[in-house]
Amino acid sequence: MSKADNSGRYKLYLGLAGLSLATLGLGLFYYGTRVETRRYRLERIAVQTKSDTTGSAIVSHQSLKILHLSDLHLSGNDDEKVEFIRAITDQDYDLVVLTGDVFEFLDGLKYGPKLLSRQPRLGAYAVFGNHDYYDYSIYNKTMGRIFRQHRHPAERNNVEPHRIALEAGGFKVLVNQSHYIASENLFIAGIDYPGIKEAELEKLMQAAPAGALKLGLFHLPRQLEMLSRAGLHLAFGGHTHGGQVRLPGLGAIITDSELPRQNASGMLDVGGTKIHISRGLGADPRSNIRLFCPPAATVIEVSHERAGFLGSDAVQSFAAVKGQG
Ligand SMILES: [Fe+2]
Repeated sequence: MSKADNSGRYKLYLGLAGLSLATLGLGLFYYGTRVETRRYRLERIAVQTKSDTTGSAIVSHQSLKILHLSDLHLSGNDDEKVEFIRAITDQDYDLVVLTGDVFEFLDGLKYGPKLLSRQPRLGAYAVFGNHDYYDYSIYNKTMGRIFRQHRHPAERNNVEPHRIALEAGGFKVLVNQSHYIASENLFIAGIDYPGIKEAELEKLMQAAPAGALKLGLFHLPRQLEMLSRAGLHLAFGGHTHGGQVRLPGLGAIITDSELPRQNASGMLDVGGTKIHISRGLGADPRSNIRLFCPPAATVIEVSHERAGFLGSDAVQSFAAVKGQG
């Protein structure tokens, strides 16, 4: 075979390889932007939490079924996503928690009043995220990665319309505020974006009665050890979208937060505090691509152990434990 023949064959192979790569890239881009972003999933996790029971002769158990929603990024054409949320909320939950980036554009506010098809037994609670507070431009999202002072727009949104829309849907929005449910001895602290000073969180937690099961909501995973020092048993956050693009064998490439890549989503244990980081159900429409990281809502079955009795469920639970002994 002549040198000219070899060179021609080499160029043909090179061309075919380039064409295959380009086709694969285009296929992945189409799948990541048009298919996987709409493959909404409902996942389930069981978690055990514990108050200090040292010295107590009586230990009771409290069970809660909590639906964790996050990063909806709602705009005016999100019927499909909202239908999914309405379908999964047609179940009995004790609580629904929503951890920020609820609305991307103002036309998404129309979904607030009809987000939940049924109200959970102990209520629905929400905090805001950075996409509620800021209308990002492409410049913020690209150059802002390099020039940190341009990471966010100069103006913060007035989120009062956002709060009104969520409250019309039965949510209580917690902006560095807490809520206590006496019948369950259940305390919920909501941390506003971008975070809270430790002294402020300590002050917030002072309202938690002794022995309460303490839950925390936040958007941006930041200084998570602080949540443990504050005595939270279980906390819920979002923002990372699970990395959005996960490579087989490598996992998330980025978390857009201080979390390491391997903690981009799922249940973490930080100093004894269980922290669930949601993959979320949406993303900024301008960068909404997901690969091996489908959007998700999560049902979290909580079993909490504490000193003393708590209501009839706890008595039954205690009796069952005694019976086993
Ligand atoms: Fe988000």
